[in-house]
Amino acid sequence: MVKLKSKTRRKILVTSALPYANGPIHCGHLVEYIQTDIFVRFLRLAGEDVIFICADDTHGAPIEIKAKELGITPEKLIEDVYKEHTRDFSNFLVSFDEYYTTHSPENKYYSDLIFERLNKKGYIYMKEMEVTYCEYDKRTLPDRYVKGTCPKCGAPDQYGDVCERCGATYKTTDLINPYCVICRNTPIRKQAEHYFFRLSSFSERLRKWLDKNKQLQPEIKNFVYSWIKNGLEDWCISRDGPYFGFKIPGEEDKYYYVWLDAPIGYIAATEHYCKKRGLKTEDYWVDRKSRIIHFIGKDIIYFHFLFWPAMLMGSGFNLPFNIPVHGFLTVNGEKMSKSRGTFFTAADFHSKYRPEYLRFYYAKTLARNMSDIDLNFSNFQDSINNELVANLANFCYRVLSFANNNLDSRITHVSPEKKLEKEILKKVKNIEEHYYNLEIGEALKETLAISSLGNKYLQDNQPWNLIKADREKAAGVIGFAADIVKILAIISKPILPAFCAELEKQLNLKELSWKDASFDIKEHALGQAKIVFSKIEIVEAAAAPEKDKAAVFPLNIKVARIIAVEDHPNADKLIVLQIDLGTEKRQIVAGIKQFYSKEELLGKKIVVLTNLKPAMLRGKESNGMLLAGDDGKEIGVVAPKLSEPGDQVYMEGFTKVNKGQITYEDFTKVQMHTKDGGIYYNGKAMKTDKELLSAEKVGDGARIK
Ligand code: MSP
Ligand code: ZN
Repeated sequence: MVKLKSKTRRKILVTSALPYANGPIHCGHLVEYIQTDIFVRFLRLAGEDVIFICADDTHGAPIEIKAKELGITPEKLIEDVYKEHTRDFSNFLVSFDEYYTTHSPENKYYSDLIFERLNKKGYIYMKEMEVTYCEYDKRTLPDRYVKGTCPKCGAPDQYGDVCERCGATYKTTDLINPYCVICRNTPIRKQAEHYFFRLSSFSERLRKWLDKNKQLQPEIKNFVYSWIKNGLEDWCISRDGPYFGFKIPGEEDKYYYVWLDAPIGYIAATEHYCKKRGLKTEDYWVDRKSRIIHFIGKDIIYFHFLFWPAMLMGSGFNLPFNIPVHGFLTVNGEKMSKSRGTFFTAADFHSKYRPEYLRFYYAKTLARNMSDIDLNFSNFQDSINNELVANLANFCYRVLSFANNNLDSRITHVSPEKKLEKEILKKVKNIEEHYYNLEIGEALKETLAISSLGNKYLQDNQPWNLIKADREKAAGVIGFAADIVKILAIISKPILPAFCAELEKQLNLKELSWKDASFDIKEHALGQAKIVFSKIEIVEAAAAPEKDKAAVFPLNIKVARIIAVEDHPNADKLIVLQIDLGTEKRQIVAGIKQFYSKEELLGKKIVVLTNLKPAMLRGKESNGMLLAGDDGKEIGVVAPKLSEPGDQVYMEGFTKVNKGQITYEDFTKVQMHTKDGGIYYNGKAMKTDKELLSAEKVGDGARIK
């Protein structure tokens, strides 16, 4: 991200996506709210003029249906959920300046205003369309409330929008033998008139906005460009009752579709915040100097990169300055699943582990990309025990408790350590940059490097021995170390706010901000040291998933050498490789042309998935697949150094490898990621008998594809 920092102090408005009020906050959601919170807390610490706005997304058919099932009104349902959501967010120290609801008078006002403005300019029109209607329940059925047989592959019991078996997308009316999810009766097709938003007429303006905006992640821009290129379809923005939402003015039984009023909820919540404080919503949403930043997950890109900016353009509001997009949470390498016991609500997690442990763990893996984030319980335990507790927290405790016990809790002077001071201050500068650039994982890595330096400094100077011979000198060493503790208490504050508040108390220093992150402690009386974090023992059944117990690894991967390289005649991004697998030679096609030159590839050792069903890729046969890490920016192949063509690649702990053929879909289920210079599947490292394997060029969190 180009620097947000500027000389004129701009108003910055940061949002997280508004969570649906039809279910609890879970650990997947928390990736986003914690990421946003870390960023906002950093900006506040750095003295920026920032507000953090969010709300419950309360409208839509699922909420209306759920309330009916529970025998309560939708209003009551969203009120209850609101209490749970705000409790969960506060438990995880997410520091919203405003947490509102989309079911508010402000949101009704802005929804009508924007609808009317768009309508006046001719961006809204009415059209007949075919819908799926249940005569028994007397309602139009949304995608998720009709099931039937997939029109493409024939899989039974698929939802009305996408087939989970073959991935095809379609309309509810395309389903074969459809049935209503609520009552199981067969629905009918019906013509209905609906309001449409002319998204198509914004194509050019949207493209220009993308061209000009230097903040947006390039890989996402490319997606969005291709959607625009393929032609944008107008968007249906009304729904028939029964529906929980805002009635469209002048209509009897038509409501705004929830995705129309949901993002408008960003403006409405800002208004609610501003009203209470005598501030002006326009200063954020109309004044061109302000900066609006929306954090979202990768499933709602279309809404935030197309519909929402088009609505804003058409109604005279500011466009987003940045829309950071994060990936999805997996647990032990797989999609969260209730049946596997890996679906953790925020409340579950909170009852077992300290919230700052999750903040710390997520922070480690967060970067400015869309890579998925894996909550792997054995990595979680290691990183809490070895990094948070043994390194960072322990260093602070060692210094402060030593001063309590041996120096009467007083800092009298600071030993001059110019070289180390310079090294640490340079890291502080880097950390500041990393936070601004949303490279949170990098910021944390450098932070831990500072506490490692602190620990090493104590080890090198041995104040516990020094104190006997030269008390003065020992006091100087502790003085310098206390400065490091103070710096750590500032730079880790965005990630560990409660821990740092506790450190401030122990240091007897108040409300430190980023500008205080320097070596400047003089004579000072410290507070009382206390142990804040202690090591954890993971009890999750999820720490040992079924797959590991069976110990057959589904992929047959081998080391190979590239012996010939040629361009693919029909595809710009593909390259055709002849490879030597020790006992046989094969041809494979790989999508790495933009990332490697032919010269780099020829003679290179790689690893290849050998039991994948052969496929024709744009007319060239591919008999296997090269494995590489993809972090959303770079692609780097898994490159063995010591192993030879033909060597078996396996995952630690698996005693057997499946030699039978698998499909590409089977492969996608085995999620492997880079971490700490290795490649992991459910916490198990990828290796050969000669070495641990790693992917070139990419950092932590890259997905192996
Ligand atoms: N209500 C809409 C957003 C409206 S914004 C105007 C919505 N709600 S949601 O509850 O489904 O998701 C809220 C946010 O959490 C989204 O950005 C979504 O991407 C994110 N996540 C939901 N599940 C997630 C994971 N398993 N992993 C990471 N983020 C996930 O979408
Ligand atoms: Zn029905």
